[in-house]
Amino acid sequence: MRDAAPQTILLSDYTPFGWQLEKVELTFILAPRATRVKSRIAFVPNPGAPAQDFFLHGEELTLISATIDGTPADTHLTSEGLTAKVPDGAFTWEAEVEIDPANNTALEGLYMSNGMYCTQCEAEGFRKITYYPDRPDVMSVFSVRIEGDLPVMLSNGNPGKKGDGFAEWHDPWPKPAYLFALVAGELVAHSDHFTTRSGKPVDLNLWVRPGDEGKCAFGMEALKKSMTWDEEVYGREYDLDVFNIVAVDDFNMGAMENKGLNIFNSSAVLASPETSTDMNFERIEAIIAHEYFHNWTGNRITCRDWFQLCLKEGLTVFRDAQFTSDMRSAPVKRIQDTIDLRARQFPEDSGPLAHPVRPDHYQEINNFYTATVYEKGAEVIGMLKTLVGDDAYKAALDLYFDRHDGQACTIEDWLKVFEDTTGRDLTQFKRWYTQAGTPRVTVSEAWDDGTYTLTFRQETKPSAATPAPQPQVIPMALGLLNPNGDEVRPTEVLEITQAEQSFVFEDLASKPVPSLLRGFSAPVTLDRESTTEERAFLLAHDTDSFTRWEAGNALARQTLLDMAAKGAAPEPAYLDGIQAVLRDASLDPAYRALMLALPTQSDLAGTLKDKGITPDPDAIWQAVETLRQALAEHLQDLLPRLAAETHVDAPYSPDAEQAGKRALGGAVLRLLTRLDGGKAAAAQYAKADNMTLQLSALGCLISAGKDEAEVQAFYDQWKHDRLVIDKWFGLQIMQATPEASVPTAKALTEHPDFNMKNPNRFRATLGALAGHHAGFHAADGSGYALLADWLIRLDPVNPQTTARMSTAFQTWTRYDAGRQAHARAALERIAATPGLSRDTTEMVQRILA
Ligand code: ARG
Ligand code: ZN
Repeated sequence: MRDAAPQTILLSDYTPFGWQLEKVELTFILAPRATRVKSRIAFVPNPGAPAQDFFLHGEELTLISATIDGTPADTHLTSEGLTAKVPDGAFTWEAEVEIDPANNTALEGLYMSNGMYCTQCEAEGFRKITYYPDRPDVMSVFSVRIEGDLPVMLSNGNPGKKGDGFAEWHDPWPKPAYLFALVAGELVAHSDHFTTRSGKPVDLNLWVRPGDEGKCAFGMEALKKSMTWDEEVYGREYDLDVFNIVAVDDFNMGAMENKGLNIFNSSAVLASPETSTDMNFERIEAIIAHEYFHNWTGNRITCRDWFQLCLKEGLTVFRDAQFTSDMRSAPVKRIQDTIDLRARQFPEDSGPLAHPVRPDHYQEINNFYTATVYEKGAEVIGMLKTLVGDDAYKAALDLYFDRHDGQACTIEDWLKVFEDTTGRDLTQFKRWYTQAGTPRVTVSEAWDDGTYTLTFRQETKPSAATPAPQPQVIPMALGLLNPNGDEVRPTEVLEITQAEQSFVFEDLASKPVPSLLRGFSAPVTLDRESTTEERAFLLAHDTDSFTRWEAGNALARQTLLDMAAKGAAPEPAYLDGIQAVLRDASLDPAYRALMLALPTQSDLAGTLKDKGITPDPDAIWQAVETLRQALAEHLQDLLPRLAAETHVDAPYSPDAEQAGKRALGGAVLRLLTRLDGGKAAAAQYAKADNMTLQLSALGCLISAGKDEAEVQAFYDQWKHDRLVIDKWFGLQIMQATPEASVPTAKALTEHPDFNMKNPNRFRATLGALAGHHAGFHAADGSGYALLADWLIRLDPVNPQTTARMSTAFQTWTRYDAGRQAHARAALERIAATPGLSRDTTEMVQRILA
């Protein structure tokens, strides 16, 4: 356990490490309960650093021996590492420690998963492997020797000597310790080759447990596509002889970009048509690309310190989104990302956990792998690209790679390449990195005889993280439409820099309808007094696919808010508008499926709160049910036609075209189920030959309450497959009524297949509960209490996942006094748990503050 009083780390305290590492040699002698790690490190004084004591991080290590230049070192152990007396000049440090991978349930450092050794070192896991300056600005070349009797033993870089009971690896590229990786076990490879554009051959391997060989082909194709794309679009080639990916079942996050040895949560790489949905395939393609792209944005150029996390994550998310847009549909990807940002990042940015894209303080860095750092961080890069233009973006990136290859950098370095390329002053733009909060942009308009004026006002709510927000640079992409639907002004980008600013459009024949924030050109909330007629007009006529979707979404939002808060009836203009869009067979089915997606219930609750109305989760649930029923009835005649249109005859493929059809088909089936009581869903379930169709049918049957036979049959069919059973756990909770959701979640935590040590299973169960808005926020507090019970149990086992899942409580102050009292009691119960981890302590304190 960690110290009682957690320390706050400040960006302003950054100091370079006093030494440079010329090389690192590691030897692992593997044993589940007593692995020995020998290290030999050549230190030389760092001329650019202030004088300091010699300190190495180390946690949960048993020190066997330590020498400096061959004589026993004079060391002093602390709870966080050790200090030692060292000579003035260069010296060689040698140490041996013992660690216990089999008992490492936190899944940080070296641990075991299903009998296989694996590592997770980002952010600060390497210090649980050996004593080391575990900070990203300390880079070195690593040579690794692994001794053990396992058939496959892998580490970073290129393979070296290999013999009976040992394997050696050498990584020629200097790297920080967080990119170190080791894997050993009984694994089989799905192998392939790639030749880089300069002719360098690369061996590609995807390592899995025996039995999973059939789930590798898609991931391998995604890897090769990613390698080609990064050469073509960013001019980046791969730089080692091998690229290894390993699938592990127990993993806290999605995946990890360790140099030459990416480690993946098996849910983020293994795929087959029978066991994975279209959404799984799309996510896997994106994560493979993301981790691969880190080889340049993260590994070759890394972060100076963890405050700069968005330097690699924002950029790499931006790059993987560009990749997905190129591989699939760009408009669909943009809408999906906007939905995701509103669902995950906006609540974070407006609640107690708000922090800038580049935070300036933290207690536990693992708590800052957030939607703000990743997704808002990517949005900031998108805005930069919009502002400077595609050519300047490309030139700036070329300069970034040229200037900073091999370095550990900061956001200042990043912005400087844009300033040097374009001559722009990015001082104000930098506020996107340093200020928390989502700007709200209010729009008003004036029309005077051919002259149209738009006035924008921007305002960001003060928060603990940013008490006095200043105006930001907001790229506002817009177009103007004539009342007949023609575009009179094509898309242009206005730069809003002031708190209030007007833009004038002259010589217009008639008052235009503005199509604002096209392509979601900035991560802001747009506030415009708009009429139902105007939204319906844009839904029917907007020439920009994003704002056209947004018009339908705004109509849905408005009617749901009126229904939930005022008991209004569903808005006919919404029903008619959606019907017209769905009828239009020239529109991509995936796009039409998104038109049927309603704002999430949590999103609606947040919007009500913004308007000064206390949200009632039950009323919101009821509004959504009523609107869906109204849609089903309104579209009654169209649904069978759409079902036929979305039928796929060809053999299953996860490509965008087929997946889009199935997405629309799935949305149609949900509506049909309201009319036929589950007949069509039962038929689809009976003949489904892929997981997308099987799971969507099962979801419909559960929500219709007609699911008993199928829920059991599904379990019997798939009980051998952990990833499919995760879906089975989650779906029953997600599709339950509000009354049934907490009891269902509770019953599933008592199921023999529930295992809190496996993060995927824990998330599938408790995460599904947290995502059930009306269920989790049950008025009697039972949802809060159940989650708190399990977080308290999980914390000593796996602090990182516990802390992450505690974010379910971040919106607790939105709700009524009764719910708040229950939420506070649950949070205080967690906070009062003896020995609570630093991770969870920090989160619960911030949420309660
Ligand atoms: N760098 C990884 C990624 O973005 C995330 C790993 C973070 N892990 C952690 N324990 N904080 O793909
Ligand atoms: Zn990443």
